[in-house]
Amino acid sequence: MRRLLVAGNWKMNASVAMTEHLLSAIRDAEIDTCDVAVFPPFPYLALAHSTIADAPIRLGAQTCSLEQSGAFTGEVAVSMLSEFQVALVLVGHSERRSLYGETDKIVLLKTLRVLEQGMTAVVCIGETLEERQAGNEREVVETQLRLLLDELSDQQWQSVVLAYEPVWAIGTGETATPEQAQAMHRYIRSLLQQRSADIANTTQILYGGSVKAANAAELFSQPDIDGGLVGGASLDANEFLGICRAK
Ligand code: G3P
Repeated sequence: MRRLLVAGNWKMNASVAMTEHLLSAIRDAEIDTCDVAVFPPFPYLALAHSTIADAPIRLGAQTCSLEQSGAFTGEVAVSMLSEFQVALVLVGHSERRSLYGETDKIVLLKTLRVLEQGMTAVVCIGETLEERQAGNEREVVETQLRLLLDELSDQQWQSVVLAYEPVWAIGTGETATPEQAQAMHRYIRSLLQQRSADIANTTQILYGGSVKAANAAELFSQPDIDGGLVGGASLDANEFLGICRAK
């Protein structure tokens, strides 16, 4: 049975005070209704690690370098992240794809870097509004997954979580309906089934795109939705904890 995972992607939003306040509230809430992960910006990973060190909250990074070390100004290697007990790394978030040119090939290479370090890759996929309006959403998602389906071993898939984030729902308040989300999650799981029943049955598929405390329970009740990747709502302790407690 797949565990429910609620992950907060803070994006480029944080301060020392906010990190301490938000993570102390999440830690002290002692959530047992799901697994919890938080993805602060790089400069706050050390503080986040020390704030949640004694709690069952997993720490994540929002991206990583393709490279292992060297003359790559501004980049952050996965080996550096592991020094702060980072357990998960987002790969291929739509904002990385659209703003920073992350291709499906780069997503594969970054995923391999993360897996080499013994971490879990949270690979983001999802179509734009134009692609959905053209009826191409399944083709888009299948293309985004194709290299991973072709190149990752069964064992490597054990350290991959997928996050379906329809771009038109990110930051818009236009959440996919539970039916829309379930339909795409079901399709994604059918693609995983092409590799093996075990991969299909064990790979967590999170939904992301305007998840709120008010809509989380209906989304998470869908058979192929294994939790949420939460943006804006993860910056408010009460809202994020409301999502974690949704059922
Ligand atoms: O990675 C999660 C993010 O893209 C979703 O953002 O603000 O729509 O919850 P938001």
